[in-house]
Amino acid sequence: MTGKRVLVAYGTQNGGTAGIAEEIAATLEKDGLAAEPRPAADVTDVTAYDAVVLGGGLYAGRWHRDARRFARRLKSALLERPVWCFSSGPLDATATQKDIPPTRAVQRDMSRIKARGHTTFGGRLDPDPQGRLARSMAKRGMAHDWRDFDQIRAWAHTIATDLDKQAVI
Ligand SMILES: Cc1cc2nc3c(=O)[nH]c(=O)nc-3n(C[C@H](O)[C@H](O)[C@H](O)COP(=O)(O)O)c2cc1C
Repeated sequence: MTGKRVLVAYGTQNGGTAGIAEEIAATLEKDGLAAEPRPAADVTDVTAYDAVVLGGGLYAGRWHRDARRFARRLKSALLERPVWCFSSGPLDATATQKDIPPTRAVQRDMSRIKARGHTTFGGRLDPDPQGRLARSMAKRGMAHDWRDFDQIRAWAHTIATDLDKQAVI
């Protein structure tokens, strides 16, 4: 493979999306890329990277604000490199069973940076999460980890393959 540098940036409230980003980066590394998972809020410059993966936990149909702000702040540089996006949200098995398109708000964020692709992964609700609403959902018995790591790794492989094809062309 190519050894290209890939940033995997994420916006998270309770860490579930960070875990997905770390798995994506680990998979890309195994595929021969130099991948780095980082909180989106910490990134001020993406020019050192050949490609970017941007993911956000879903809150009321929108990405976590760190992912939204990342897309807005770094728009010009993102337009100059390939970007793939993911959302993490559904607290049930639907994301494993079918392809869930981006929400309208995420579509808008993605079109701003001309993202090449998107997928939705199941989410995770921690038993003791941050946030009043999240805590009340956990108390109602919704705490569970719906992330499917086979699905996450499979999607990361498709990005590695696409980047490899670009190197050949
Ligand atoms: C207050 C609240 C609102 C949520 N809204 C949505 C939503 O609109 N769509 C969705 O698929 N999941 C929704 N979820 C589920 C979260 O996206 C899921 O828990 C995700 O894994 C959170 O990511 P994080 O742990 O990285 O913050 C919501 C969860 C909470 C607590």
